[in-house]
Amino acid sequence: MVPARKNGYAIPALNVQNLESLTAVAEAAAEEKSPVILQITPSVIKYAGLPYIVGLAKTAAQLSPVPISIHLDHGEEFDTVAKCVQAGFSSVMIDGSFRKFEENINITKRVVDIAHPKGVSVEAELGKLAGIEERSVDERDAILTDPDDAKEFVEKTGVDTLAVAIGTSHGAYKFKSEAKLDLERLKILSEKISIPLVLHGASSVPPELIEKATKYGATLGGAKGIPEDQYKKAIALGIAKINIDTDLRLAFTATVREVLTNSTKEFDPRKILGPAKEAMKQVAKSKMQLFGSSGKA
Ligand code: G3H
Ligand code: 13P
Ligand code: ZN
Repeated sequence: MVPARKNGYAIPALNVQNLESLTAVAEAAAEEKSPVILQITPSVIKYAGLPYIVGLAKTAAQLSPVPISIHLDHGEEFDTVAKCVQAGFSSVMIDGSFRKFEENINITKRVVDIAHPKGVSVEAELGKLAGIEERSVDERDAILTDPDDAKEFVEKTGVDTLAVAIGTSHGAYKFKSEAKLDLERLKILSEKISIPLVLHGASSVPPELIEKATKYGATLGGAKGIPEDQYKKAIALGIAKINIDTDLRLAFTATVREVLTNSTKEFDPRKILGPAKEAMKQVAKSKMQLFGSSGKA
């Protein structure tokens, strides 16, 4: 990610859960000649089982003509992170953002101490990814990443990348009214911190996917994500890893709904999941183009 920050693009970090999502992302990266990060959360490890999901991810990385790294997303407990370091992940996130500042520093430092000797890089998070609309300036300051705290945090932990809170949140309902990131804050953060910065909760929630899902029965009224023009601005201000889960899920589910509605006699899982995987792959490719990582592998 260091070359990405230096050269003004971002690596897409795409959440995967199973064979379909994993191969969708791997094929997208190969076709776009883009580096990519496969992200696996603790709840995916619980769902799929660590040996299965790691086995799939390692196979994808080995067969890939482009660099694919395997990342633990939102590891909250030391033991979970340690297991992933042992299992051969390329990088791990220790998310201590819900802890007190000093406790977040302590747990992050402990993770850095076990990860770095194995060549595994570490992402941490400071600040809270929560809706910030209709909050006072003081309330926003309490939630979003404080640049001085962030500088101290990076110096004390030796972390490789830092996830910052600048107004995004996870899921399909990010904003009730105006969709806006705190780019002023990001500018100050990027002046104080030279390591690559990470944007979580970055799905754009494309209206066409909401329309497709709705056409086939979904109820997703009011869903709203990051306007696409904000990505370029955020990348110019030091964001070098952009996390996307929701948009992939929306593409997958809208297509499953479409197939099941249009082909009522179909019951072969491959004929249902195959088109859904293709839809995910198109989303993955569009992120690579948008974040400027296409052609960088
Ligand atoms: O931030 C990460 C995800 O969007 C939530 O993932 O449902 O696999 O825990 P999960
Ligand atoms: P979205 O819910 O916006 O896709 O965010 C995903 C994410 O941050 C994963 O860590
Ligand atoms: Zn996240």
